[in-house]
Amino acid sequence: MEFKSANLVYFTGTGGTARVADAFERSFSNRAVSVYKTELTRLVEPVVLGDVLVLLFPVYAFNAPKSIDEWLEKIQPTDGRPAIVVSVSGGGDISPNTACRVASIHGLEKKGYDVIYEKMLVMPSNFMIGFDESLSAMVLHATPAVVDRVVLNIMAGERRRTTPYGIDRIASKLGYFEKFGGKYFGRYLKITDDCADCGWCAKLCPRDNIKIINGKYSFGEDCVICLRCVYGCPQNAIEPGFGKFMVLRDGFNLTKIENRMDHLTVYPRISQATNHPSLRGVREYLIESDCFEL
Ligand SMILES: Cc1cc2nc3c(=O)[nH]c(=O)nc-3n(C[C@H](O)[C@H](O)[C@H](O)COP(=O)(O)O)c2cc1C
Ligand code: SF4
Ligand code: SF4
Repeated sequence: MEFKSANLVYFTGTGGTARVADAFERSFSNRAVSVYKTELTRLVEPVVLGDVLVLLFPVYAFNAPKSIDEWLEKIQPTDGRPAIVVSVSGGGDISPNTACRVASIHGLEKKGYDVIYEKMLVMPSNFMIGFDESLSAMVLHATPAVVDRVVLNIMAGERRRTTPYGIDRIASKLGYFEKFGGKYFGRYLKITDDCADCGWCAKLCPRDNIKIINGKYSFGEDCVICLRCVYGCPQNAIEPGFGKFMVLRDGFNLTKIENRMDHLTVYPRISQATNHPSLRGVREYLIESDCFEL
């Protein structure tokens, strides 16, 4: 398919989806497609540019984050403009994740988009159960290769629409109710005495949910549990008062993993790195990437 320009619109909490968007940008640019890239925050205007829209989001509770739904509500209707929907998960294309794009695809189709391609990508998990360092490094290494193949397929005119399991469609609806959990998670976030008053969290919360009022930090109810503030605070001074089980005890920092990866020359075999049954989707993803030995 002939595209001269692409608009990448993405939401990210902890940077995984931002890196996937970067990989799409590089791959499109290498094929002479110019790219407009927009990170969704509450302050973003719903402008859509380019010949094709690529919508990217992390999977939250088998679904897309609230920010995606809100943006889809606001965009202008179109007449058959092509769109690609990319979900980024820690679990891969396994149940109950398989229906995570259904609601966003429906939202795009309601606005007249022609969704030509959908795809699940994997990045290191920032939620409940993390990856060990070598598995994180493998996934970070694999993703640009998978993205490049996706772009190649799209440019060759391939259409790809998936059929989620019926049970996953129900699970993705339950995920919708879990969005309400953000209200409590956000409201009960606490700042400890280690805070150095740098203002980073208030500036970078993608929901504008952290305010400085009379010199004091205040959390609102418009949190989507993206975990950016919890993992990103340079003083490690933000603690959840509700839903602690969701946060990785050792924190989550993709930049640190990438820096250490620079020294990595040998990767483990896929079978060694993903021998736990819960990593089945990640294993399939690494096999698909064709970057490692089985
Ligand atoms: C609140 C929340 C819910 C999540 N739910 C899922 C899920 O249902 N399935 C899954 O595979 N990963 C889940 N994850 C993991 C993220 O999808 C994954 O780590 C992703 O790469 C994060 O992207 P980001 O770094 O752009 O925020 C969840 C993460 C968070 C913070
Ligand atoms: S990012 Fe951390 S140190 Fe900086 S203001 Fe927020 S809580 Fe305090
Ligand atoms: S308050 Fe923290 S977890 Fe909630 S949306 Fe903002 S940055 Fe993300």
